[in-house]
Amino acid sequence: MAVTRTFSIIKPDATRRNLTGAVTKMLEEAGLRVVASKRIHMTREQAEGFYAVHKERPFFGELVDFMISGPVVVQVLEGEDAVKRNRDVMGATNPADAAEGTIRKTYAESIEANSVHGSDSDENAAIEIAFFFNEDEIVG
Ligand code: CMP
Repeated sequence: MAVTRTFSIIKPDATRRNLTGAVTKMLEEAGLRVVASKRIHMTREQAEGFYAVHKERPFFGELVDFMISGPVVVQVLEGEDAVKRNRDVMGATNPADAAEGTIRKTYAESIEANSVHGSDSDENAAIEIAFFFNEDEIVG
């Protein structure tokens, strides 16, 4: 299995509850390595750009408002089959559907305040990583 990269966001509900370390521990225990990380407060323009694929969805406005409601931690994660590995440890989007032992089952408050984002494909991982990081900020 190839070592690949994925993109992760620790969302405002998790930073507010001081869960950056707890979430990162679960990512690391799942076999992912944090090769880049920074805490930022997204601008509205950044959040709208990042989630542009969802702009026709009824929840888009609330999603953007939530993502700029506090700091987030954006990360690049590396590991074998990193996109799938990360999605497995995150759990289902809606914490009500998430499996035991996943980040969202453990920590998420709701489908919106669901603690983490993770890329859904290698192609989107590359796009999302480039949205927030320069190559020289990623140290594998
Ligand atoms: P994320 O993986 O960051 O990608 C898009 C986000 O939209 C998703 O996580 C959820 O937090 C949010 N989302 C998806 N569906 C809904 C919904 N029905 N209502 C509110 N937020 C949603």
